[in-house]
Amino acid sequence: MLAKVSSAAILGLEAVGVDIEVDVSNRGLPSFTVVGLADKAVEEAKERVRSAIKNSGFDFPGHKTIINLAPADIPKMGTFYDLPIALGILKASGQLKGKLSGLFLGELSLNGDLRQVKGCLSTALYARERKIEKVFVPHNNYNEVAIIKGIGIFPVRNLKDLMLHFNKVKEIKPGKINKELADPSFEPELDFSDINGQSQAKRALEIAAAGGHNLFFFGPPGSGKTLLARALPGIMPIMTEEEILEVTRIYSVSGNLKGKLVNYRPFRSPHHSVSRVGLIGGGSFPLPGEVSLAHRGTLFLDELPEFPRHVLEALRQPMEDGFVTIARSRGRFSYPAQFNLVAASNPCPCGFYGDPKNACRCSSAEINRYQKRLSGPLMDRIDIHVEVPAVPAKKLVQKTTGQSSKQIRVRVEAARRRQRRRFNESRLTCNAEMGSREVKKYCQMENSSWQKLVDSSEKLGLSARGFYRVVKVAQTVADLAGKDKIDQEHLIEALNFRSKGLSYH
Ligand SMILES: Nc1ncnc2c1ncn2[C@@H]1O[C@H](COP(=O)(O)OP(=O)(O)OP(=O)(O)O)[C@@H](O)[C@H]1O
Ligand SMILES: [Mg+2]
Repeated sequence: MLAKVSSAAILGLEAVGVDIEVDVSNRGLPSFTVVGLADKAVEEAKERVRSAIKNSGFDFPGHKTIINLAPADIPKMGTFYDLPIALGILKASGQLKGKLSGLFLGELSLNGDLRQVKGCLSTALYARERKIEKVFVPHNNYNEVAIIKGIGIFPVRNLKDLMLHFNKVKEIKPGKINKELADPSFEPELDFSDINGQSQAKRALEIAAAGGHNLFFFGPPGSGKTLLARALPGIMPIMTEEEILEVTRIYSVSGNLKGKLVNYRPFRSPHHSVSRVGLIGGGSFPLPGEVSLAHRGTLFLDELPEFPRHVLEALRQPMEDGFVTIARSRGRFSYPAQFNLVAASNPCPCGFYGDPKNACRCSSAEINRYQKRLSGPLMDRIDIHVEVPAVPAKKLVQKTTGQSSKQIRVRVEAARRRQRRRFNESRLTCNAEMGSREVKKYCQMENSSWQKLVDSSEKLGLSARGFYRVVKVAQTVADLAGKDKIDQEHLIEALNFRSKGLSYH
């Protein structure tokens, strides 16, 4: 007999429909074949399905069984298809009586329990878009799809329960919508009020959070660069529900989800030994890299000069475009990568170049070599350069007077609201995403300020990119001040952040 079960395949972040056709014939020698561009994990499904069916108390047909995954030109990867294959076999062998309507996915363990799979959220979103009313998902995947309204999502514990459901013995109910899982409030680990001094660096972080700008900290060892960067998540604006789904989808596809939605902006800090594929994404089984896992949040590269140059150079394209495209023989996969970069470095190998208290022990050739490791094009993409000097000991014992992360976040949120209003009709979400055309369209400045910018950029030797980036930062400074139009003082603050970079030899 022939049976057909619906499932999906994940291409990049998107799900597409896949049909599993099962033919069980009661003639021929016993065999079990899977066809239709299946990878090794799907091929191995045969053994899991066979055991799961038997151990759930059903019969595995002893005749010729053929499984076809259609359309055959779409690559099928992972353990997604165990459940639909098992259901198809049970249907085709006459053990399952009801109609198999809906979408099915899940990995089977040998005893018939359902295991979590990657890409469940993408599949549920696909089902909603296609108006497929029912989706049956592994119980442990339910939390990532629990906020999707409009379709019935059924959490399933094991194959036996599902059989009882379709044979009308014991019904499985659709899961309840749980809005709380997308509650964006969270307590930061590190509060701004715990950091002594460093008012300029704190201000820079506020601007970076408000406008989504890239930031570079440099200064002597132990001055607090890593500490400051790690405090950034506490002042980042909360995510909208749409953004939460967007980010969770990436984590779901890459298997990084910790059982619930990603409800706060990601903060990724890969070690400098990260490979190019680890950072950008790819691999023979294409997966998103750190840049995509940092989507809508922050990518923190601590000790920037320690990263291999070819790894850093690979950042140039995603930083400009906001997405990564990986071409493989199996197809092209696109992953979003809209993040703000925060980088930190010492100014020289010993770390004290330019420090007023400690003498630098490096030769100028050493400093030169060290700073050369910071790629020019990458530094050109960083809008805010801030020196983080050592904090005087007496400041460390004083009670901090700075504001808390919560107070700063209120200002950041207000600035973001202003930006969202401004970009109402476009797809932009923050100032940093503007291209030169949008800068001309949205940023207003007096003629005298434009003139000042022209003069300063000639003096500083700014590139065209650098020129526009200054305007974008100035726009964020204006937004934080509650103004739409950029004043001269806003521009000067933005220019200051650009001019105080590390001195290149
Ligand atoms: N401004 C500060 N207020 C309170 N504590 C601080 C401050 N700066 C540094 N510290 C303390 O010093 C420790 C070291 O700081 P951190 O690791 O951020 O230095 P760093 O600038 O990243 O140094 P390196 O260049 O060696 O990486 C922090 O964990 C923190 O305990
Ligand atoms: Mg550090």
